[in-house]
Amino acid sequence: MKVVVGITGGIAAYKAPELVRLLKKAGHEVRCAATGHALQFVTRVTLETVSQNPLYSDLFASGSTEHISLKDWGDMLVVAPATANIIGKAASGIADDALSTLILAFSGKPVVMAPAMNSLMWSHPAVQHNIATLKGWGIRMVGPAEGELACGVNGIGRMAEPEEIAETVLSSFHQPLSTQKWLVTTGPTYERIDSVRFIGNYSSGKMGFALAQALADAGAEVELVSGPTSLAINHPRVTLTRVESAREMYTAATTIFPNCKGAILSAAVADYRPSECADHKLKKKGDEGMTLTLVQNPDILASLGSTKTQEQTLVGFALETDHELENAHGKLQRKNLDYIVMNSLRDKGAGFGVDTNKVTIISRDGHHIESPLLSKQEVAKMIVETVTH
Ligand code: PMT
Repeated sequence: MKVVVGITGGIAAYKAPELVRLLKKAGHEVRCAATGHALQFVTRVTLETVSQNPLYSDLFASGSTEHISLKDWGDMLVVAPATANIIGKAASGIADDALSTLILAFSGKPVVMAPAMNSLMWSHPAVQHNIATLKGWGIRMVGPAEGELACGVNGIGRMAEPEEIAETVLSSFHQPLSTQKWLVTTGPTYERIDSVRFIGNYSSGKMGFALAQALADAGAEVELVSGPTSLAINHPRVTLTRVESAREMYTAATTIFPNCKGAILSAAVADYRPSECADHKLKKKGDEGMTLTLVQNPDILASLGSTKTQEQTLVGFALETDHELENAHGKLQRKNLDYIVMNSLRDKGAGFGVDTNKVTIISRDGHHIESPLLSKQEVAKMIVETVTH
């Protein structure tokens, strides 16, 4: 998941880097947004280093719409520490700097605040009124709450510890697959002709990398087996194995699958490979043509389908150019799948290379779910939600 950590100008700002560290350790991507006053307590360099991302602190530094991009990027905004000032601004809809503008832009997405201020300020009816207003809008408060005014728990107005704030953030991200391991295959395969040439295809790996990310975001451990691509993934729950040929992918997938709850095979695997691979560069011979003899590669999906247990879920892809649904149904039956995700190359913006896709998810019992044209990330999320229930 992607978390934006907002930092305001209170002494507790020194704890913000620790919060960022805990969120990163749990596998989340983090970007920080700070007020000018916050940067009196904690430096830009610290926040950028610990988050591994640029800091957002100036409304106009990189154009005037960065708050909207950051809101689109983030799944949640956590303001820690939240001073009386930012709480007052948020409750009044004031947007006069980078962070207050971001809070207003975050409308419709989850926002958590960890108030921190002097106890007299905290007790002031204006602050309590603002807190109540924000809570009424669904903004979650961690740490001092109205009840604590009477009992003085924790020192009134003191910010919750970073562990407690991180816990609140993590528990609000639903991770239904946290006990499961999934296998994903992606990318093309290269089948060598000689030492410099191969038979390949246009798969970029984007669909499968997005699937791995969506499964990991839902809490799963993911084994991602990828053919040659230029993509990388940085998620503590994703293990990437790079392979080149269909036979290497077969070996990796069949070794990993028995320990998995399920597998999604989105790779564009070459059905055939040259029967021989020359260990040198083949030379052109006059005007003669050249004949390559091809032999069949193992079908990874069919192989997993023949060994899968009742408890395992197997999902294949089908890339079709005609008779799409009929062909996809055929593959689902023949390869003993639970679901098949059909891509039609007739759909504009779908399939190889592009950042978008449009699919039909077909279940074994014949149910169809059609997606509109969406980003591969959104399609991946939809597939993961469907095949994991
Ligand atoms: O990588 P991108 O650029 O993001 O593009 C994504 C994609 C278009 C590659 C992807 O969405 C997709 O459609 N993947 C399946 C491509 C394919 O090869 O389909 P197929 O109909 O030929 O194969 C059917 C299924 O059998 C697939 O799950 C495939 O992984 C699997 N298979 C095929 C042959 C083989 N020898 N072993 C296999 O496991």
